[in-house]
Amino acid sequence: MNESKALQSNSSIAHTDEVIIACEDGSFQKTGQKTRILRAEEAKQLSENQVLVSDFKQQKLEKEAQKNWDLFYKRNSTNFFKDRHWTTREFEELKACCKFADQKLTILEAGCGVGNCLFPLLEEDLNIFAYACDFSPRAVEYIKQNPLYDAKRCKVFQCDLTKDDLLENVPLESVDVVMLIFVLSAVHPEKMHLVLRNIYKVLKPGKYVLFRDYGLHDHAMLRFKSACKLGENFYVRQDGTRSYFFSDGK
Ligand SMILES: C[S@@+](CC[C@H](N)C(=O)[O-])C[C@H]1O[C@@H](n2cnc3c(N)ncnc32)[C@H](O)[C@@H]1O
Repeated sequence: MNESKALQSNSSIAHTDEVIIACEDGSFQKTGQKTRILRAEEAKQLSENQVLVSDFKQQKLEKEAQKNWDLFYKRNSTNFFKDRHWTTREFEELKACCKFADQKLTILEAGCGVGNCLFPLLEEDLNIFAYACDFSPRAVEYIKQNPLYDAKRCKVFQCDLTKDDLLENVPLESVDVVMLIFVLSAVHPEKMHLVLRNIYKVLKPGKYVLFRDYGLHDHAMLRFKSACKLGENFYVRQDGTRSYFFSDGK
């Protein structure tokens, strides 16, 4: 299952759409199912896999979250995630924000990685100005080096969304759409609200947060072996990066 939602800044959840199987690289397949039903052996594996990583190691992972993502990009450069050409198709709100033909849309991609979502979007819609940030300095550098990077259409900066004030780089209430694509899952569940508070300040009143991320029982979740569990629906990969798996209740 893969969670996809559009949230309006002055209301509760607007809608939840289809259920999809997410792959580790962020690509996905539609299944037509409402919920991914676990096979018996999968359910058994999940119920047996209950031992949590020690507090000491958990604190170390939190302290080193930025370093671990930066090393991820050192190892994989720009080659890990597939370009995400589906954003305008999946999120009608991206189009609905433009009420007339030449209206400029200002977006913020929070946790942009190396631009797999950002660049397809900028190519597809010439009326978009994008702010984009990530806490990995390497990821930010890769974006700046991308031949498609154009400082007139995009401002990229380094920012830890859980502690650096977005207002240092993005004006107050200036953004039509904030995109959170496979990002919140990488943040400790106890700090997710800090990210939301941070992006709320730069969002124009009544505008949108578009969210897509891993969902409960995704293949990516079932692949975790024992000794990788950090908490309920929260796991750590071999490289120290972490992933939360969302359900409708969270
Ligand atoms: C799975 S990647 C997704 C990247 C991108 N949104 C995409 O769709 O390709 C998650 C990204 O979140 C970034 N990230 C994780 N925690 C963050 C934080 N606290 N502040 C900013 N970026 C963060 C990581 O560096 C990584 O680039």
